[in-house]
Amino acid sequence: MSATSPRPLPYVLILYYSRHGATRAMAEQIAAGVESVRGIEARLRTVPPVSPTCEAVDPEIPAEGAVYASLDDLRHCSGLAIGSPTRFGNMAAPLKHFLDGTSELWLGGALIDKPATAFTSTSSLHGGQESTLLTMLVPLLHHGMLYAGLPYSEIELMETASGGTPYGASHLAGKRSDRPLDDHERQLSRAQGRRLARLALALGRLEGEPS
Ligand SMILES: Cc1cc2nc3c(=O)[nH]c(=O)nc-3n(C[C@H](O)[C@H](O)[C@H](O)COP(=O)(O)O)c2cc1C
Repeated sequence: MSATSPRPLPYVLILYYSRHGATRAMAEQIAAGVESVRGIEARLRTVPPVSPTCEAVDPEIPAEGAVYASLDDLRHCSGLAIGSPTRFGNMAAPLKHFLDGTSELWLGGALIDKPATAFTSTSSLHGGQESTLLTMLVPLLHHGMLYAGLPYSEIELMETASGGTPYGASHLAGKRSDRPLDDHERQLSRAQGRRLARLALALGRLEGEPS
């Protein structure tokens, strides 16, 4: 970078896995929330599926959705929103597989004091949204990140009859995973992105302060 070129904007990494598109639709709303805050960008990234066949290799560029995340995407982010479809009340294996490859960042403390949040999609209303969000929170705490859920000042939290929890945004995708995000779910996803972006900017400023 030359002395005159502008500094790149800080970004929130929105890291997700999605098989049928529901979690991806949430990721896009969270990105819209991030982008509504001036001075910070959203960077959408996904992870490849994992396969029981060791020889299976995926193309480097996915057929649809965001490109695959690199460790550097995570290392240099100012905030992280992590999203997964629910798998038996837990995060999906491809996301866990990606996180299991982040020891290098953990050893260097690359994510300490950065804000993070999580989002999920399920096929059934009581199918484990909160527990899935909590499974994603655990490794983020090990990395020293600061977890931010959704506060009840977001009035949709009290009104929703579908997705939306104080642990993070969620979506009820239905039996065939084809139910679109409704207004409450969309608003809460955006609010989560906005909140994370503001926290990332504020914590980024603190980092520059003398101790
Ligand atoms: C192996 C497996 C386990 C699942 N476990 C749950 C579950 O515990 N609860 C639930 O409501 N949905 C469960 N689902 C459904 C997905 O979480 C749901 O369809 C999700 O919305 C898909 O998100 P996507 O469109 O981003 O792939 C499961 C699906 C699969 C394939």
